[in-house]
Amino acid sequence: MVIKTFDEYQTAYKHSVDDPESFWAEIAQEFQWRKPWKKTLQWNFTEPSIKWFVGGKLNITENCLDRHLATRGDQPAIIWEPNDPHEASITLTYRMLHDQVCRMANVLKRNGVQKGDRVCIYLPMVPELAISVLACARIGAIHSVVFGGFSAQSIADRINDAQCKLVITADGAYRGNKEITLKGTVDDALIGCPSVQRVIVMTRTRTPIAMFKGRDVWMEQELKQVTAHCPAEEMDAEDILFILYTSGSTGKPKGVVHTIGGYMVYAAYTFQNVFQYKHDGRTGPQVHFCTADIGWITGHSYIVYGPLACGATSLLFEGVPTWPDAGRFWDIVDKHAVNILYTAPTAIRSLMSFGLDKVKNHDLSSLEVLGSVGEPINEEAWHWYDDHIGKNRCPIVDTWWQTETGGLMISPIANVTPLKPAYATLPLPGVQPILVDENGKEIEGNGVSGNLCIKFPWPGMLRTTYGDHERCKQTYFATYPGLYFTGDGCLRDEDGYYRITGRVDDVLNVSGHRIGTAEVENAINMHTGVVESAVVGYPHDIKGQGIYAYVIIDQPPVDNDTDLMKRDILATVSRIIGPIAKPDKIQFVVGLPKTRSGKIMRRILRKIAEGELGNLGDTSTLLDPAVVEEIKEGVV
Ligand code: WT7
Repeated sequence: MVIKTFDEYQTAYKHSVDDPESFWAEIAQEFQWRKPWKKTLQWNFTEPSIKWFVGGKLNITENCLDRHLATRGDQPAIIWEPNDPHEASITLTYRMLHDQVCRMANVLKRNGVQKGDRVCIYLPMVPELAISVLACARIGAIHSVVFGGFSAQSIADRINDAQCKLVITADGAYRGNKEITLKGTVDDALIGCPSVQRVIVMTRTRTPIAMFKGRDVWMEQELKQVTAHCPAEEMDAEDILFILYTSGSTGKPKGVVHTIGGYMVYAAYTFQNVFQYKHDGRTGPQVHFCTADIGWITGHSYIVYGPLACGATSLLFEGVPTWPDAGRFWDIVDKHAVNILYTAPTAIRSLMSFGLDKVKNHDLSSLEVLGSVGEPINEEAWHWYDDHIGKNRCPIVDTWWQTETGGLMISPIANVTPLKPAYATLPLPGVQPILVDENGKEIEGNGVSGNLCIKFPWPGMLRTTYGDHERCKQTYFATYPGLYFTGDGCLRDEDGYYRITGRVDDVLNVSGHRIGTAEVENAINMHTGVVESAVVGYPHDIKGQGIYAYVIIDQPPVDNDTDLMKRDILATVSRIIGPIAKPDKIQFVVGLPKTRSGKIMRRILRKIAEGELGNLGDTSTLLDPAVVEEIKEGVV
């Protein structure tokens, strides 16, 4: 399954297109199945209906844990680096991790969780997060991890959508110099969540918290009641492994559904190949450090499932890159002799801004492969990463993919694919990209750009959006019939190399986080006195995109304090979605540029937010062109 040369890549790619079923069947055979599958692939993109390894039975935790015990039981599976560098780090070997996952699985069982039940996980980046995820998978429960930065309202929406029966959380979380309450936020959320019968609480910050008799139990006490014996539940390849919520251009976040067999094969295959993980590295099994939070797909696939399915050592970091100072990542690389570092352009740009002093005095010689994910990486950041972190001797894999794709899609293979700065380069085996124009017509040849679609299924792709299959169809398969539409714009250069240019829908990418403009607008509109709002993105030096909100209010703010009113609006957005969705700029306006049919012309608002006031294009179709002049004058 491991590609070693560019020739091998080309051969594998051709095989994967000519005969996808035999290609993926060969790879899937390397895993442990309780029963073999009867048919490798059954699909159509109309309903859509996608099934891989049909009839196959397995448990993903047997593949991620049990299967490694004989050969690498004593190898570190997870290395945990705490927020505070003075606190001791923890190493869990495969044997220890297996033991803890089984115990946690038994805790879930004794608290009433059964196969198919949904469990919401709202935890800091601690080993218990990975353990909880795997414990669900062990007993066939479906996990829905909610990122620790989301608000009570967001948690409640996600819990209700999936009808979760149980929540796993902690008293609080440490993030840099901040202490964040988690249990309190869960308590607020659960006021509106009748499906939740139990809350399992671990202690992390030891902040006093409310514990409700009959509903809330302590994880530590529960763990004392169980053994480490927990046979894995036999699951169907197409049973749901997890739900992960992500934003789109309309309405509430949708629950992207991934199923067990295909996701496992895809996460493992892409991990092994793209990062070229070595068990026999210079100092033993390589250490893979993915800096994402397990609350996002990157953490699911490249901290937990991909690395563990491959028997790798995965580093899990609780804190933030800038605390105690902007050298923290380099401290960690040095301390744990990290070999593979996988992070986001926004982190690189932020660390760049602190200067090279923070990089100096750290031994980065263990690094062998660097990765980038989440947003387009600009050339300046790419070169800084290459020069100062990789010292020009580590390939940078710029990996393009999405929550929906389950794993990496367009990406270099480290030390195999010739690189080009700021290019995701070439599709991985099994991935068949196609560029189309607005009408869905294929744009052939090289030196072209268009909307990025995928024309054939790959094992890691989403199967549905939880509880609303029609929404899955409309969002991804209806825009261009017969194709999966990514929502991204893309160019293919003269060499056939792909470069992702950004979203073509109303989705923003702020610090690598996906945020729907409609979602932010809905939150702003819930603020007292707000009549209407329009949200657009604008280029931001560190975040990639910033959030610019145009807001109409019904009367002057109390005491005419516009600054306070802006901060109040931010507080409302924080309450409704979470701090990550707070606009960077708010401009109060008297009107929005609308067409005669009442549609907001976002193109104009985007230009204004970008500061391109002189070049607004055709405004003649506007209901009231004067509005534009007024907005231009009030730019913030
Ligand atoms: C969107 C998906 C799964 C990755 C983490 C974010 C953008 C992602 C790249 C890249 C340019 C990228 C796209 C995509 N994106 N990686 N290497 N180059 N853009 O997952 O939250 O589902 O967001 O992130 O716009 O559609 P996500």
